[in-house]
Amino acid sequence: MKIKINLQSREVAKSVVNNSTITTTEPMQEMFPDEIKDIFADINNLIGLSKVKSVIYEVYAFKEIQKKRQKEQLKTLPTVLHAIFRGNPGSGKTTVARLLASLYKEMGVISKGHLVEVERADLVGEFIGHTAQKTRDNLKKAQGGVLFIDEAYSLCRGGEKDFGKEAIDALVKAMEDRKNEFVLILAGYPKEMEMFLRSNPGLSSRFPLHIDFPDYSIEELLAIAEIMYKEHQYNPDISAYDELRQFLSHTNTSNYTSQGNARTIRNIVEASLRAQAIRLINNPKPAISDLQLIMSNDIRYALKQLTPVSPNKSKDRSTLYPST
Ligand SMILES: Nc1ncnc2c1ncn2[C@@H]1O[C@H](COP(=O)(O)OP(=O)(O)OP(=O)(O)O)[C@@H](O)[C@H]1O
Ligand SMILES: [Mg+2]
Repeated sequence: MKIKINLQSREVAKSVVNNSTITTTEPMQEMFPDEIKDIFADINNLIGLSKVKSVIYEVYAFKEIQKKRQKEQLKTLPTVLHAIFRGNPGSGKTTVARLLASLYKEMGVISKGHLVEVERADLVGEFIGHTAQKTRDNLKKAQGGVLFIDEAYSLCRGGEKDFGKEAIDALVKAMEDRKNEFVLILAGYPKEMEMFLRSNPGLSSRFPLHIDFPDYSIEELLAIAEIMYKEHQYNPDISAYDELRQFLSHTNTSNYTSQGNARTIRNIVEASLRAQAIRLINNPKPAISDLQLIMSNDIRYALKQLTPVSPNKSKDRSTLYPST
């Protein structure tokens, strides 16, 4: 089922279910309790991710209607929220998981709403019994919250004899025994997650939510950069964005982008703040606007720090900035 919901405008969104068109109105956010309103505002403020936002709203609407049905003593369906997140690095998986944990708490699905982020090494031990213990410890930590397993496919990398299998079995058991006590999210890169689920038949169906995180477009990445600069009270000029756009649209860097997405942007933004500091350090009295301004040179310098520089070009750095 695909439902497109624009959480930002007052449009009516249309979707096609079984070849018939249904209409879905967007959430009346002013009717939400304040805590839910704030969380939806944060979700809404994420750039792109329209399908992810739609799924979150569906989950919220379904749970709320089940509550109303229960009040009227109508039959209710259980709300199982274990999820698979598929997306490349930096596509927003952890960010969304953290917001979901808070939302689920406010919805009354879990009691605490914290996120415990783990990876294979946190769950898989080195001797018999060690894995069960480590997995149990993390399940305990995640009690009342979300257990988020990054690169979950690595749990089965060693085949049948690997202790990772033991971790998977312990997780599956906990999903059944402690249904309402935690939410499990398995996250990873799309291809690897596909293989992981195929090699563990029965696992996929235990996760009612399968959410895809697509790579960001160049314009989305630029909008994410803008948010990051604003967050830190910096103010890039147009030439800085042009420099960034040029880098992102360069064919040779497309691979770099799909491997890093918003994480790449965060790295560039942070490196450009350091570049600006180097540019300004010899100015004894920088104006407030200078302290905020990010120029194309800062972006160029940042990119040189982050991407391999061919030896004949490495001299350029010293013409822009004093050597560090
Ligand atoms: N849609 C978005 N809007 C604004 N900022 C975003 C968005 N997606 C990601 N970010 C920012 O980009 C950075 C990387 O995102 P995040 O850690 O959620 O990605 P990830 O998919 O978990 O990556 P990885 O697989 O490498 O762990 C974070 O700093 C986050 O705040
Ligand atoms: Mg992550």
